[in-house]
Amino acid sequence: MQELLKVAMPKGRIYKQACNLLREAGLPIPDDFDESRKLIIPVPEAGMQFIMAKPVDVPTYVEYGVADIGIVGKDVLMEENKDVYELLDLGIARCRMSVIGLPDWKPVIHPRVATKYPSVASQYFRERGQQVDVIKLNGSIELAPLIGLADRIVDMVETGATLRENGLVEMEEIFTITSRLIANRVSYRMKNEAIQQLCDLLQPIIAPVGKR
Ligand code: PRP
Repeated sequence: MQELLKVAMPKGRIYKQACNLLREAGLPIPDDFDESRKLIIPVPEAGMQFIMAKPVDVPTYVEYGVADIGIVGKDVLMEENKDVYELLDLGIARCRMSVIGLPDWKPVIHPRVATKYPSVASQYFRERGQQVDVIKLNGSIELAPLIGLADRIVDMVETGATLRENGLVEMEEIFTITSRLIANRVSYRMKNEAIQQLCDLLQPIIAPVGKR
């Protein structure tokens, strides 16, 4: 029997859209798949075994080869900087990484920047020759400027609702985020046929840029 392709799926924000994309591609993903609390779900009809992962860990599973491929946001890929192949821009879960602050923000010599993405934020300010103190937080990043922990934040903006409801403004977009299909380097060679087949199914249904 052929070995199942191990696919790391990101639980949370991207998950439903990723499941629907796979269904649209014609994969027989069961209906109760989205609600399941199981962490490993074999779907032999699709030739796949799904691993339900915390999004930030998807590149790690793929780099180590415990997952052959994975679906993950560009934000996580940029931050984690793992040694994986980026195969496809899936065009789903579109949002952006931005610098955010209070509307009356004034430049200070050595600002503090709070973020879940310390590597992305450090690189961004380094490239602009700005010295900042990056503070790593794990969530509710928008709190930081409101309670005086940081002058600015670097965070993901999707609908903009969190910013509006907390009186914050987007100062600059750093990059656009969409979900990507990534592969382990060895798996990409050893299981090339199965991976290529999946890419061929996905490619025609990925919405062209501008229609996402
Ligand atoms: C993310 C992000 C923003 C918010 C943006 O947080 O960090 O806070 O979503 O979305 P919006 O523009 O549609 O309001 P998430 O919901 O992942 O929770 P977190 O605060 O725990 O990071």
